[in-house]
Amino acid sequence: MMNVGQRFLQKHVLGLEDFSREEIDIILHVADSFKEISGRQIKKVPTLRGRTVINLFYEPSTRTRLSFEIAAKRMSADTFNISTSTSSTKKGETLIDTARNLAAMNPDVIIVRHSCSGTPKLLSNHIDASIINAGDGTHEHPSQGLLDLLTVREKKGKIEGLKVAIIGDIAHSRVAHSNIIGFTKMGAQVRIFGPATLIPAGIEDLGAICCPSIEDAVDDVDVVMALRIQQERLHDPLLPSLREYANYFGINRRLMGLAKKDALIMHPGPINRGVELEPLLADSEQSVILDQVTNGVAVRMALLYLILGGDKT
Ligand code: CP
Repeated sequence: MMNVGQRFLQKHVLGLEDFSREEIDIILHVADSFKEISGRQIKKVPTLRGRTVINLFYEPSTRTRLSFEIAAKRMSADTFNISTSTSSTKKGETLIDTARNLAAMNPDVIIVRHSCSGTPKLLSNHIDASIINAGDGTHEHPSQGLLDLLTVREKKGKIEGLKVAIIGDIAHSRVAHSNIIGFTKMGAQVRIFGPATLIPAGIEDLGAICCPSIEDAVDDVDVVMALRIQQERLHDPLLPSLREYANYFGINRRLMGLAKKDALIMHPGPINRGVELEPLLADSEQSVILDQVTNGVAVRMALLYLILGGDKT
């Protein structure tokens, strides 16, 4: 392991907007080296023995929550999950009070998911533990952005110079925001397309190119990333019906024919099969959706390792 601890000085993981290209490179390098641990028969190293990690999720999650828990356990940290449906939040305790009470038990890391953008930053101002953002409102989902970068780098051998199309509800997608920031920082071209009502004003400021049509977006790209359609928003006047969405914004074989022949198909999950992505494509050889999930564990092991001091521990 290179001496990364000296060069990675972040205490929190709030968003990829806070990370330099060198820091992202370090995270990907460490994640790459940790992948091997998950392939062993005994999938455990003592690196974070005695450290305490709390998962505080105010929104549902399958992949992120389990992946952080597995990552922490593979590094021998003690992990605890708080289900907000059975916690004292139900009795009216404020978020800050909950966090302060958790902090009073001396955890090293609190991983938080919340529907309100900025919640992880708010917590980082009030408590001593490191905070990792596991998705905050429409802001960022940094560990998802990092695992997507790792997956593309692994499959394509590089990120610099690649063309990446992100299709769907850009406005509400924290995954899209972290990926636009991450891929742009690493030297890729990021193109976006979606319903006009769901392309936020000023998104080009993050470095993305807004395309006039879905065909323009996917033309000759190396990566096509479909975003989850947020079914809870289908009652908003912002979106057509599911069927119309699938017709106009769903990724299908015709569109993949316009991308590079070996283009990767990505999706952060959970997938609405037949809506944002044709089911055959989700299971095709071009799909790296399950590789994304596998790489999520390695990226989260790397984040825990680095914010807890890397090789200085
Ligand atoms: N990709 C992702 O964040 O999935 P979960 O909502 O299941 O954590």
